[in-house]
Amino acid sequence: MSTSSLFRRFLQNPTQIGALCPSSPALCRTITSDIGLENATTVVELGPGTGVITREILRRLSPETTFLAIELDKALCMDLRRNFPELRLCNDSAARLEAILQEEQLERIDVIVSGLPWAIFPETLQQEILENVLASLRPGGCFTTFAYLQGLMLPAGRRFRKRLCEIFDKVETTPVVWRNLPPAFIYRCHTAGTD
Ligand SMILES: C[S@@+](CC[C@H](N)C(=O)[O-])C[C@H]1O[C@@H](n2cnc3c(N)ncnc32)[C@H](O)[C@@H]1O
Repeated sequence: MSTSSLFRRFLQNPTQIGALCPSSPALCRTITSDIGLENATTVVELGPGTGVITREILRRLSPETTFLAIELDKALCMDLRRNFPELRLCNDSAARLEAILQEEQLERIDVIVSGLPWAIFPETLQQEILENVLASLRPGGCFTTFAYLQGLMLPAGRRFRKRLCEIFDKVETTPVVWRNLPPAFIYRCHTAGTD
């Protein structure tokens, strides 16, 4: 698990990977804080990449929690399997989230943590994945994702923010995490209801 493996994958497929280096420890800590991971029954991570956020999620989960990670890149999946032999990992697209959950016989999800590069996704893919996220979360569930500060200057980044506010009951943003390359902030989005 290293910066160089994500960098190599970025050079081969920039529009899927979307980042030159993994999230910093500060960003990994912030994205996994205050979202109820410690009490969750079922958790999903989208786009784990090299697994830096995965490691922080695993640190916070109770042994009873079911945790599934979905990563599209085959080479990164091989690294993840080597580095996290216990991880339940699916080499597939987050756009198939609902179908994957059915195949894996998982019920509605408490928390979805995303490392996906939303600001470079075309509108159709953004929509498709967000629809899957919304349909998969239990009432009162939480979806969290980071966004690079400069992404707000891109139409896709602004469209993503607008869409989150339209479809979720409550959307919070954290202060900017400056100790990340590039600086980023986090969206914490909640669906309506309590269970
Ligand atoms: C910006 S990297 C984030 C890696 C890591 N989570 C981090 O924070 O350092 C985005 C990851 O999302 C994955 N990805 C992109 N599109 C995807 C999709 N449709 N389904 C699942 N994973 C996807 C990429 O392969 C890449 O590993």
